[in-house]
Amino acid sequence: MRSEIGNDIFKSVEILNRGGIVAIPTETVYGLAANGLDATAVAKIFEAKNRPFFDPLILHIAHSDALNQIVSNVPQKAKILMDHFWPGPLTFVLPKSDLVPDLVTSGHPTVAVRMPNHPIALELLSKLTYPLAAPSANPFGYVSPTNAQHVQDQLGNKIDYILDGGSCCVGIESTIISFENNPTILRLGGITQEAIEGIIGPVNVSLNEHSNPKAPGQLDQHYSPYCKLKDLKHDQLEPHSNVLFYSPQTEEKYWGENPRIQCNVMYLTNNNASIEAAANLFSVLRDFDQKGLTEVYIEFAENEGLGLAINDRLKRAMAKRD
Ligand code: TXA
Ligand code: MG
Repeated sequence: MRSEIGNDIFKSVEILNRGGIVAIPTETVYGLAANGLDATAVAKIFEAKNRPFFDPLILHIAHSDALNQIVSNVPQKAKILMDHFWPGPLTFVLPKSDLVPDLVTSGHPTVAVRMPNHPIALELLSKLTYPLAAPSANPFGYVSPTNAQHVQDQLGNKIDYILDGGSCCVGIESTIISFENNPTILRLGGITQEAIEGIIGPVNVSLNEHSNPKAPGQLDQHYSPYCKLKDLKHDQLEPHSNVLFYSPQTEEKYWGENPRIQCNVMYLTNNNASIEAAANLFSVLRDFDQKGLTEVYIEFAENEGLGLAINDRLKRAMAKRD
């Protein structure tokens, strides 16, 4: 059995109002959504994703007014960033209100919240009286979905409806910034550190907390296809190897230093553009599995701007599964 894919916002509202789960489009990746103030509905998300309960969810809202319901305080710098980047791929970790179930926050006194920049998500949210809890709509640890078909391929029979909003234009998840103490980036994503610091000045960055991750994106292994990924820098290419170059331009540079051999070549971006690379990233990783590839050599992006968030995903996708 497969879940229906469609554009019916009213049907989505009806399912969510009776405590069901619906996959929704956002500008970053598709989310698996439920009423974020209803612990029973939220539990269905964890079940469908096979997600550990230690891993808290993001609440999605359509208007800043909805913040009062779910957070107890918005520091001035967070407010300034919201005014600047919302709707958009920036998630704030803030002190939670009593209305937010512990299941959403995994027992933390803070809650993650963002306003997605996608017309269908915003329209849906504006018809609801509660925020939507929504993690990425993939089985835990696997590549995130960037179109409706990806969701159906992986979770198709476990969810009530897939609301189709086309392909996600950002393609990697939101940046997460915590205001629990001094502003600290917990996950790199669609908004760069430079862009944030350009507005509120220096922030801390804390991306790796191996034993007690605050964000699953902080786990060493995450976002992984089944196909084995190897680092082009450290592993020697052999004839007929599968290789994902960052772009045709970087491929040219690579061959300049190495003897050119016949390989199956793929690119993350055809135009050497980090926005395009980010938007393609998860589709490309997913394609490895669809094509039945067992091993692919990966070239990393330049370590700057969005390239940092792309490389962060690639490194974790490359890490060994337990
Ligand atoms: O772009 C996105 O953020 C997408 C779309 C659907 O909005 N959502 C997403 O959700 O990536 P998910 O669950 O895959 O990742 C949410 C991250 C997790 O790493 C989680 O640990 C972190 O947010 N998080 C949630 N609540 C938190 C909290 N109270 N403190 C620290 N991290 C938190
Ligand atoms: Mg995820």
